[in-house]
Amino acid sequence: MSVSKVIVPCAGLGTRFLPWTKSIPKEMIPLLDKPAIHYILEEAVKASIKHMIIITNTHKPALTNYFDPDVALEQALRDRGKENLISSLESLRTKIQLTYVNQSEPLGLGHAIGCARHIIEKEYFGVMLPDDIVVHQRGALDQLLRVARQEGGSVIAVQEVPLDCVSSYGVVGIKKQLTNHLFQVSNLIEKPSQSQAPSCLAIVGRYVLSHKIFPALDELNAYATDEIQLTDAIAQMMHKGEKVFAFKVEGVRYDTGNVLGWLKTVIGMALQNPEYADQIKGFLDDAQSTNSFLYNPEKTIDHLSKK
Ligand code: UTP
Repeated sequence: MSVSKVIVPCAGLGTRFLPWTKSIPKEMIPLLDKPAIHYILEEAVKASIKHMIIITNTHKPALTNYFDPDVALEQALRDRGKENLISSLESLRTKIQLTYVNQSEPLGLGHAIGCARHIIEKEYFGVMLPDDIVVHQRGALDQLLRVARQEGGSVIAVQEVPLDCVSSYGVVGIKKQLTNHLFQVSNLIEKPSQSQAPSCLAIVGRYVLSHKIFPALDELNAYATDEIQLTDAIAQMMHKGEKVFAFKVEGVRYDTGNVLGWLKTVIGMALQNPEYADQIKGFLDDAQSTNSFLYNPEKTIDHLSKK
């Protein structure tokens, strides 16, 4: 199986981050010095994928601007001997081919994927949701691709979550456990209640899917009254005979799609980064030991100037 393309849907409304997302797409949210989308494309590169299809809309020029070359800025940085400040972006740009596809209305994740059908041929392809960041040396997509090639079917990334969290995720039902990490899927339920949940294996935003997802999306589209869910289309494709596997991916998963998740992501990443780790640890220790610390602006200034 050869997989050469990945779809990155970025055309949602980002309502959990309003009003901020009114003018800045949530895919551009900063995680230390780079926006979320940058980490996603780096992960695709680690999986040896070059062609990335970004689903976007006309209200998100910041996304396309980010990847456009800026000759004046590059020259200004060279003049100051500071070209290293954007070298990660320049290096990424040389490794990718971007295609932008418009989703004129946010009709759901399934609909967003369907917008790229004219670019996907009769092949398997990756899907990466930019609000799920997985920190792992090889990346989550590369792990899925290996399984897809080995098993010859579609693969969904999952991680185990506590039962009282299942209602925030898509959850897979298990037909058969094949190894410690690999399962054949029997069904998928979007945001189930605790009593409806078929397992505690929650979907992480990485998939390798067959092109057979497109006719499945068409069938859903014919009856759709609400958003078209990708999980429903995967279930439909599975009932038509496509084998679907769930693979427990390794790595730390962060959800940057809401304010609390984003705060945890930034702090978690900073604690793993040698440039910031000590100062953030010190800051968190102080904040914990002095209840009034966070509410005392004078003390905050004092503290920061000490570091
Ligand atoms: P989410 O449901 O997490 O994002 O979709 P959202 O709808 O933008 O955010 P909320 O729920 O209102 O806060 C997961 C990914 O799918 C994209 C989003 O941009 C996000 O990256 N998406 C979602 C689309 O591209 N089109 C859609 O119609 C819906």
